[in-house]
Amino acid sequence: MTGSLSDEAAAAPFVIAIDGPAGAGKGTMARRLADHYRLHLLDTGLTYRAVAHRILAGGLPLEDEAVAIEAARAVDLGRLDREVLSAHAVGEAASRVAVIPEVRRILVDKQRAFARRLPGSVLDGRDIGTVVCPEADVKLYVTASAEVRARRRLAEIEARGGTAEFGRILDDIRRRDERDMGRADSPLRPAADAHLLDTSEMDIEAAFLAAKDIVDRVLGARGRA
Ligand code: C5P
Repeated sequence: MTGSLSDEAAAAPFVIAIDGPAGAGKGTMARRLADHYRLHLLDTGLTYRAVAHRILAGGLPLEDEAVAIEAARAVDLGRLDREVLSAHAVGEAASRVAVIPEVRRILVDKQRAFARRLPGSVLDGRDIGTVVCPEADVKLYVTASAEVRARRRLAEIEARGGTAEFGRILDDIRRRDERDMGRADSPLRPAADAHLLDTSEMDIEAAFLAAKDIVDRVLGARGRA
C-alpha cells in the first residue's frame, strides 16, 4: 500500500470488495490488488469450499443442514488449503451448502472479523459488497460472458495437463450462475454502488489495471493516494 495510507489506516481498515460469477477473474484481480496495496487477502469462496470439503471428507450428506452448520463453525480462516479446496467437486458442493442461511451467517461473521484487520483487506466472493462489507471503500463487480469464462477454465485445465469438454464446462458455469444468482439468501448481484468491470475482452493485466485505476481514483479523491 502507498505510504500515506498507513496513517489513516490506523483509524479504519481500507476494504476492497470484489464480487462476480465463477471464472470472471476475481481471484487473480484480488491477489494483484492485495499485493499492490499491501492489504490482507481473503477468497471467501474457500470458506464455503471448506464447509463442503469437510462434509464430503466425512462421507456425510450435503443436504443435512445440522451437519453443514457444524462444518461451518469449524472453519478456520487461517487454515484454508487452496490446493485441496480447488477440486471441481468441492466447488460444486460449496454452491449447494452456500444456500443454507445459517451456514452463511456463521461464515459471514468470520469474514467480517477478517475485514476489520488493519491496514485493510481485499475480499472476493459473491456477496461482499452487498452483505459482508456493505461499507467497503471500493466495490468491484467483475463479470465476463459465460462462454469466455468457460474458455478460460478450459485453458487453465489444459495448462495443468488435463483435458475437459468445453460444452460440459459451459453447462457447469451456467448451473453455478443460476444457483448463485437465484438463491433467496444473499444472491449474487452487483451492489448499487459497485463499479462494473466486464473482462470478456480483457487479459489479466488489462483487468488489473482497470481495477487499480478505480481504486486509485477513490484513494485520490480522499487525498490518500
Ligand atoms: O468462488 P468459488 O468458486 O470458490 O465459490 C464456490 C461457491 O461458494 C460459489 O459457487 C458460491 O455458491 C459460494 N460462495 C458464496 N458466497 C461467497 C463466495 C462463494 O455463496 N461470498
